[in-house]
Amino acid sequence: MPQTPLPVRLLVCVTCKREGDDLEAPRQGSRLADALAGMLPEGVALQPVECLGNCKRSCTVALSAPGTWTYVFGDLTDESGPDVLVGIEPWPIPPTA
Ligand code: FES
Repeated sequence: MPQTPLPVRLLVCVTCKREGDDLEAPRQGSRLADALAGMLPEGVALQPVECLGNCKRSCTVALSAPGTWTYVFGDLTDESGPDVLVGIEPWPIPPTA
């Protein structure tokens, strides 16, 4: 029986900030989410969230799919989009219709 790839969700904490950030400017996590929105492969759903409980290691994202572990990645910046893509690569991306 062929395996059906699982829907992959990328949760991005949009409230993450880093030490020294201008608190009047958009948060780094929000800027990271904006950057990732334009570079994700099809089949990966971006879900902005407010806090992943990893605030001391911000910016933070998490990868999840039904029946799999959830992987949390921290110490990211608004320029970490390409690194997040490397983390997504081994995940089973569902085909698009
Ligand atoms: S504010 Fe981003 S993990 Fe808590």
